[in-house]
Amino acid sequence: MLSNELPIGFIDSGVGGLTVVKEAMRQLPNEHILYLGDTARCPYGPRPAQQVVEFTWQMTQFLIDQGIKMLVIACNTATAVALDEIKAKVDIPVIGVIQPGSRSALKASHTGEIAVIGTEGTVKSATYEKELLEKSPDVHVRSLACPKFVPVVESNQFTSPVAKKIVAETLAPLMYNKPDTLILGCTHYPLLRPIIQNVMGSDVTLIDSGAETVNDLSTLLDYFNLNNYDRKVSKTCKFYTTGSPKMFRDIAGDWLDLKTLEVEHIHLGGK
Ligand code: DGL
Repeated sequence: MLSNELPIGFIDSGVGGLTVVKEAMRQLPNEHILYLGDTARCPYGPRPAQQVVEFTWQMTQFLIDQGIKMLVIACNTATAVALDEIKAKVDIPVIGVIQPGSRSALKASHTGEIAVIGTEGTVKSATYEKELLEKSPDVHVRSLACPKFVPVVESNQFTSPVAKKIVAETLAPLMYNKPDTLILGCTHYPLLRPIIQNVMGSDVTLIDSGAETVNDLSTLLDYFNLNNYDRKVSKTCKFYTTGSPKMFRDIAGDWLDLKTLEVEHIHLGGK
């Protein structure tokens, strides 16, 4: 029997899942949060699918051992290859970020011209295409891998001139026959959102797949009657990283606007 007071777990290869946590803190301020970023092994994007499944399972087991009532795979690359397997293995509700992002893109697009940007792993899996075309066979979907984006974010350079140059160069192929809707198919990308919007132009609607996931998370909490109603214990957020706690704290503190932040270093697997 799951307890309503348990935290919700979030996992990502690094700091990207914080974009999902930020939205969860806004929409679900009563919920306790446990976050694990596998920064030491980031990026997941170029890794073979089987290795991403293995790492995702290690992160899942770690958070389940700490005690969580629900798991959000706040990483598109991991969602693309590991969601079904993780769902089948654990007995708590698990959600990923791809279905909510796809649904929201279909709602936003008027021309049916949808583009997806993501890691090499996500693009190779073609999971967004499958989700979008299954629901709406007439839309036209283009996908573009942006392997340089995640390192820019993880090194805390996402507002720098270097970031602007990389984003403009990488997105150039989308400028011919522009989509009306662009899915940010990697949870790291919302940190680059102002730059991406500037490059794409204000006529392109950006979909933050992670933030959309929080709508589903909220629905699931209602469905399983798992909301935290206990207001006596003040809300807690705890963060784990396999990398440098300082770098994690710098990015997370700014992004989540938290003055104090509990960040603990852990090891996963053999590294
Ligand atoms: N944030 C992740 C995603 O949504 C993974 C980035 C990476 O590690 O390559 O895909």
